[in-house]
Amino acid sequence: MGLKDQLLSLKMMMFGGKGGVGKTSCAASSAIWAAEHGRNTLIISTDPAHSLGDSLGVELSPGIPTQIEGIENLTALEINPKANMSEYKELTNINPMEEMGMSGLMDNLPLFDDMEEIASMTPPGIDEALAFGKILEFVETEHDYDLVVFDTAPTGHTLRFLGLPETLSGWIGKLLKMRLKIGNMFGAVKRLFTKEEKKEDKSLEVLEKLNNAIMNAREDLTNPIKNSFIIVMISEEMAIAETGRLLNELIKYNIPTSTIIINQLYRDTTELCDFCKARRKMQNTNLLKIKEVFGEKLNKNLIEVPLFREEIREYEKLKEMGEHLIN
Ligand SMILES: Nc1ncnc2c1ncn2[C@@H]1O[C@H](COP(=O)(O)OP(=O)(O)OP(=O)(O)O)[C@@H](O)[C@H]1O
Ligand SMILES: [Mg+2]
Repeated sequence: MGLKDQLLSLKMMMFGGKGGVGKTSCAASSAIWAAEHGRNTLIISTDPAHSLGDSLGVELSPGIPTQIEGIENLTALEINPKANMSEYKELTNINPMEEMGMSGLMDNLPLFDDMEEIASMTPPGIDEALAFGKILEFVETEHDYDLVVFDTAPTGHTLRFLGLPETLSGWIGKLLKMRLKIGNMFGAVKRLFTKEEKKEDKSLEVLEKLNNAIMNAREDLTNPIKNSFIIVMISEEMAIAETGRLLNELIKYNIPTSTIIINQLYRDTTELCDFCKARRKMQNTNLLKIKEVFGEKLNKNLIEVPLFREEIREYEKLKEMGEHLIN
């Protein structure tokens, strides 16, 4: 399926690759095209160093979806890189003894082994992970968008999140199990003494909802009818190596990928200066390798995009880029 058909039919598309290669420009340009071809489109930047607003030429506030003026059907969102942890804080600091005014009494119960494990497995950056989890939850909940385009952070950062559904749901699964254990055990004990009505435990619900959404997201992310990871690269040796590694990781996580954009290519014109000619020669050599390895051997759909004279920013330029991306 070419980029055009993907933009017309998929539910999610993720644009990723090395830093500075043109991920945001390609994602924004593609999202505009989809929106103008009748698909209600949401473009989400998951890069904590957001530049989506700059690219589109609009001001975006973290966490607030903004309808883009002048482009029907296009909404943009830069995610808040840190999740609102208050919702989860009590989940990670579970201390039922304290809740019951009995702290310190039963510290050596086997139940607490689980807690130690949870405490030690709460990975650094869990707030970022949960922020991404919340996005997946949003995508999996009823919404009006036909297509969600992800403008992702440079490779390393994004890769951590591709494995996230497993990590998060493993983590949440353990928390859930533990909450249930604690709930049953201490809820019953407490009611014996206090006759207090069973307090509604909202946190369980929150966790269960998040977990379900993440499992659904996992299914969607790996389904080629629903999602595609679009790799953006430049024609340089280091980029070829990194793209190879990225492809391996995508295979590992079962994320469908069929399209590679080779961006910032010097055009063949006679007016090139010596410096530009040398760069074009270098790019052409690498382009041959890219075609052989990614095109012929791995059967990827390759899209070549020229280096523009100007920076690619705002509607007109993004549209112009679109003409090269989609044909
Ligand atoms: N084909 C092109 N011709 C000219 N300029 C380009 C082209 N593609 C991208 N640019 C410019 O290169 C810069 C980086 O592009 P962009 O922000 O899209 O890359 P990115 O991969 O998203 O970067 P980051 O890794 O920082 O998120 C921008 O200033 C953009 O305007
Ligand atoms: Mg970017």
